[in-house]
Amino acid sequence: MAIPRWSSLTTPSGVVFFLLAMCFSLSAKANDVAQRAQQICASCHGASGISSIPGMPSLAGQPKVFIENQLVMIREGLREIPAMKGILNGLSDPDVTALAKWYADQPLAPSPARSPDAAKLARGATLAKQALCGTCHLPSYLGQNQVPRLAGQREDYLLTTLTLMRDGKAQGRDSLMTNALGGISDAQLSELAHYFAHHVGKP
Ligand code: HEC
Ligand code: HEC
Repeated sequence: MAIPRWSSLTTPSGVVFFLLAMCFSLSAKANDVAQRAQQICASCHGASGISSIPGMPSLAGQPKVFIENQLVMIREGLREIPAMKGILNGLSDPDVTALAKWYADQPLAPSPARSPDAAKLARGATLAKQALCGTCHLPSYLGQNQVPRLAGQREDYLLTTLTLMRDGKAQGRDSLMTNALGGISDAQLSELAHYFAHHVGKP
């Protein structure tokens, strides 16, 4: 599949690049960013950042700072995401901020195709409280600053990520999550992922 790259849609390389990048950043309007996100990001992350594809996280309603940090980490290859390799080449820092702001402003909606299991939800809710996940992710689980929103995220993405984080294999991610998840079993991770995916917190 040929995936468009940010650079091929924004600016050519060379000296002109810098000037054009400056112009872009000064004149960037929400519409331009939205249009480019639709061209480049929507095929995986969904229109308006609500993903309907397994393994692809939703981005809508994530804190701006969290998205900015991740975009820089991904662009610099510090967080390696094979599916996104090269896509962010040429994405300037002002582009990063504009893109992050656009996704942060998209309305939060729960991931599609949910099928709640009441007993599992209750176990997940209790566990999340006991494990103090809300200390950083907020009691609404909407996230703040560099801490991501968990509420309404795709269940499969949450479970894969939680497992990698607990096992210290989440490449390019803050190790404090490994500490937060120490001693939590596979079954409990599954309860947590189920709970957050179905929980749409109130602001
Ligand atoms: C070909 C598919 C694909 C495209 C296109 C793509 N991404 Fe991604 N993106 C992914 C996958 C897969 C992940 C999750 C990787 C993982 O499991 O850690 C991801 C993760 C992310 C994350 C981290 C989210 C989180 O909750 O940790 C951000 C932010 C992101 N992408 C932004 C973008 C933006 C902005 C664009 C467009 C410029 C884009 N992506 C284009 C596949 C894609
Ligand atoms: C001390 C603060 C803190 C606590 C406590 C904490 N987290 Fe986190 N969490 C973070 C930060 C910061 C990140 C972003 C890490 C990164 O990407 O480098 C994160 C990332 C995550 C992610 C990845 C989400 C995404 O979209 O990529 C998941 C899932 C998660 N936390 C779940 C949990 C759960 C479940 C708990 C409770 C067991 C918990 N966290 C407790 C700070 C915390």
